[in-house]
This record gives sequence, C-alpha cells and structure tokens, in this order.
Amino acid sequence: MAQEGGPPFLLSLVMLLLVLSSVCVCPGSMRSMAAAGTGSNHTAREVSKIAAEVAGYADVAKRIIDLAVFGAAQNRSHSRLADFTDTIGNRVSGSHDLEMAIKYMYNAFAQDGLDVHLEPVKIPHWVRGKESAEMIAPRAKHLAILGLGSSVGTPPEGIKAEVLVVRSFDELKQRASEAVGRIVVFNQPFVSYGETVAYRAYGASEAAKVGAVATLIRSITPFSINSPHTGWQDYQEGVKCIPSACITVEDAELMWRMAQRGQSIVVRLSMGAKTLPDADSFNTVAEITGWQHPEQVVLLSGHLDSWDVGQGAMDDGGGAMISWEALSLIKDLGLRPRRTLRTVLWTAEEQGGVGAQQYYDLHKVNSSNFDLVMESDMGTFTPVALQFTGSVAAQKIMAEVVKLLAPINTTRLETHGEGTDISPWMKAGVPGASLHVEDSRYFWFHHTEGDTMTVQDPHDMNLCSALWAVVAYVVADLQDMLPR
Ligand SMILES: *[C@@H]1O[C@H](CO)[C@@H](O)[C@H](O)[C@H]1NC(C)=O
Ligand SMILES: *[C@@H]1O[C@H](CO)[C@@H](O)[C@H](O)[C@H]1NC(C)=O
Ligand SMILES: *[C@@H]1O[C@H](CO)[C@@H](O)[C@H](O)[C@H]1NC(C)=O
Ligand SMILES: *[C@@H]1O[C@H](CO)[C@@H](O)[C@H](O)[C@H]1NC(C)=O
Repeated sequence: MAQEGGPPFLLSLVMLLLVLSSVCVCPGSMRSMAAAGTGSNHTAREVSKIAAEVAGYADVAKRIIDLAVFGAAQNRSHSRLADFTDTIGNRVSGSHDLEMAIKYMYNAFAQDGLDVHLEPVKIPHWVRGKESAEMIAPRAKHLAILGLGSSVGTPPEGIKAEVLVVRSFDELKQRASEAVGRIVVFNQPFVSYGETVAYRAYGASEAAKVGAVATLIRSITPFSINSPHTGWQDYQEGVKCIPSACITVEDAELMWRMAQRGQSIVVRLSMGAKTLPDADSFNTVAEITGWQHPEQVVLLSGHLDSWDVGQGAMDDGGGAMISWEALSLIKDLGLRPRRTLRTVLWTAEEQGGVGAQQYYDLHKVNSSNFDLVMESDMGTFTPVALQFTGSVAAQKIMAEVVKLLAPINTTRLETHGEGTDISPWMKAGVPGASLHVEDSRYFWFHHTEGDTMTVQDPHDMNLCSALWAVVAYVVADLQDMLPR
C-alpha cells in the first residue's frame, strides 16, 4: 500500500482509499476526530511526569538501536525479507503462494520463540489468467499491460475496437458520444497517488456508462520505464462490468499523440481474468505477552499479501519483516514489557484491507485494551518520522517517545497515523501510528514487476526496525496506556 506524505485528500477519495489497498489513508473524519479528542484528564503536570518516565527509557532505547543498527541483528530484517521473498515470491489474495507465505511465517515466528497463532479470514480470489494487448493500427505494436484486480476478462477471441483517448473524466463526459463501442484509453497526468488513483479505481465504470467496451488506463506512477502497474479497481453497482487494465505511461502518451494527429487507433485486448469463490486465509499473529497487563495490547503490523507481480518485497514485505524484527530485538535483549506486543501480518490488504477489517470486527469488543496500533506500508526506506493520530495528551507523550530515537536521527513526530489496515481502530478512537519513510521512489515500483529485493537497502531496514521496536516497547511498558 501506499500514500503520499500527508496532504489532505478529498473526502470522496477517503472512501475510495479505505476500499483500495494500495493506499494508506488519513481520512479527514479521523483527523477531525483526533483534533477534537483532547478527551483525557491529563494535566500539564501529569504530562511532564510522563515525560520524565519516558526519558528513563533512553538506555533501553539505545540498546535496541545498537543491536539493530550496529550489533548482532544488523541486516537481519533485510536477510529475512530476502529469504522470504526469494523462497515464496509474490502472494496475491486467494493464491497458493499466499498460503505458503502464511505457513512460512507461522514457522518462522515459532522458530524465533514467539507465541504464534492464525486467525481465519475469507478473502477474494481473483485470477489474472493470460492477458495481452496489441495495437493493430495505425501500426502494429505490442502494449505492455497488467489487468486490474476484480476486472472481468474478455471473450476468448478478445476485444478488437477503435480507441478513444481522453485525459480526464470531464473530457470523457464531453466526448461521451464518441465512446460508444470503443476502448477508452485514459491518459490522465499524474498528480499524486491519492488523487490520480481514482482513474484506476473508477475508470472502467465511468467508461462503461458512456458505452465503452473496455478501458486501458495509464499506470498510476510519477516515473516509468515502460512498466505497467496493477492494483484494485471497483465496479459501480448497476453499471456493466467491462475489462480494465493498466498500460504504461509511454504507451498512453503514444496513443494520445497519435489521436492528436487525427490517426485512427485500433487495439486488440485479450484478458483471461476471472473471480473465483472467496478463499480461506489467515491473519498471522505473533506475541510477546505482557508481564503486568497481558490483556492490553500494542499492535505492530504490515501485510503479508502482495500483487501477483514482482516479489512484493517493498509492498509490503518490508513492513511485515520490521514488525517481526521489532519483537525479535526485544526478545533478544531479554526484555518483556508490561503490556502485550502483538505483531499481526494482515492478509488480503490489497483487496481493500479485508483481513484487517475482519480482525477489527472480531476484536473490537476489546478496543479499550488496545493501547496503540501501528502499521508500516509505505516501504522501508530511510525513516524520517513517526506519524501519529491520538488525543493532544497522547501526542505530547509520543513526542517524548520519539526523542529516544535521537541516535538514529528520527525524532520527528507528525500528525496523522495512516494505513488501510489500522484505520478501523483509529476511527474507533484507538491511537494509531505509521512509519513515514523517504518514500519518493515508492510509486516507481509499486504494484509492478520491479517490486523486488533490489529495491531494499539493509541499513534502511535496520533503522526502520530500530524505530519500530523502540516505539512499540516503550509505549507497551509505560505505567499507563496512552490517554484517549
Ligand atoms: C475527566 O474530566 C471530565 C471533564 O472535565 C470529568 O467530567 C470527569 O469526571 C473526569 N474524570 C476523571 C476520572 O477525573
Ligand atoms: C550489512 O549491509 C551493509 C550494506 O550492504 C554491509 O556493508 C555490511 O557489511 C552488512 N553487515 C553484515 C553484518 O552483514
Ligand atoms: C477480549 O479480551 C479478553 C480478556 O483479555 C479475552 O479473554 C478475549 O478472548 C478477548 N476477545 C477477543 C474477541 O479478542
Ligand atoms: C545521525 O546524524 C549524525 C549527524 O549528522 C551522524 O553523524 C550520524 O551518523 C547519524 N546517525 C545515523 C544512525 O544515521
């Protein structure tokens, strides 16, 4: 998944982002709730008392950082990620590979001496099948495509049709009469992932409304070397389902230029995609039980599923591995916090946070015992800050906690924790935190064949692991839970 920096998104997009995996969202509703939620009786004096308590963790924070960055655990999360993704490969919702990934992680957690269990989840099972696209006129050219999750396929003989190229939904509406019987190509400019992903999500239904037979959508990325990017798409209810795939930035611009010259473009599209009945899967859970308040939980997480391209190393293998590594570091140092540290590796995030939603529905009865929920799903590049959503009093405490990260230069606390998988908890008022990394290249690789181990850097992963472990441990060990 993924999101950009933290600029506010349109409210309509918030709904979309909650449904679409690829994006960590910070819903506006959540934000205003957090702002209003001074909801605690912590006085200034209490906060300064807690600041002193937090400062008392400087030594333990330093030990965690030393172990992760300079000591025996140096590069461990990276080599774990390499072993995992080289062995399993990618692991799309419903696939045998995802089952293998869950078994792999179950065994790895157990071998690491953590308490591990699986929680059953029903997940979507979409299969890509064979797919291809060919430009036939004005000249023959292969088009690199990736069908979009939940798309229907074409008839076996494919769909051959003239193309209408548009730059926006508005232009599509203005030229609605030209769309009938055509394949609509969207060549929308990239603004930001959060904004531009609307074309991937809704392009097929918008084109179907004006009579198109299929859509080819410019990949949602600021940078391309002719690589198509996949992702989830949503059919609107009551609108005909037409096949939908992403094409490359280069091919979208090529067809746009041809259309500007008045050339007639014909494409043949063939897609074997289909949706099978929901599959059985699991969220994978590993714990270090708290010594004083075992029922109270600090939850760390990343998602174990990926798209069916590349290795899913960046999205979100890295987030999953640092959420494991954090527990390993704490265990290696012989530490056990007051509260339970729980790592959850979500299933079927890419289909709209499916595993996380079912986890929330099951466990929300205990939401008053969830101290902090954490998610890493924007890559594990150089960490720059901790993003946090919570009451003003909780923000003050977290600002003290991140000071403990001075040895790795990431003492910044930003407002608004983000993430598809923790958003149900944050909406219910549970404090939430996410990892903000130097993510400028994230969308270059996102949902492509390029999401491989080659994108990952061991030192960056050491820093991310250290940050994750220090924050989780200290919050789980403070006298009191974070004030709501
Ligand atoms: C907290 O503050 C609220 C509002 O000032 C008050 O109604 C409530 O009784 C206080 N609770 C405690 C435990 O002091
Ligand atoms: C960790 O990775 C860095 C960068 O690749 C390398 O220089 C260093 O030697 C590695 N350390 C260990 C213990 O493998
Ligand atoms: C809720 O918490 C209680 C006490 O820790 C525990 O026994 C129970 O299993 C929890 N229920 C769920 C659904 O997590
Ligand atoms: C933190 O910043 C200081 C000063 O720029 C630098 O010397 C140090 O190596 C940095 N630490 C890490 C872990 O990057």
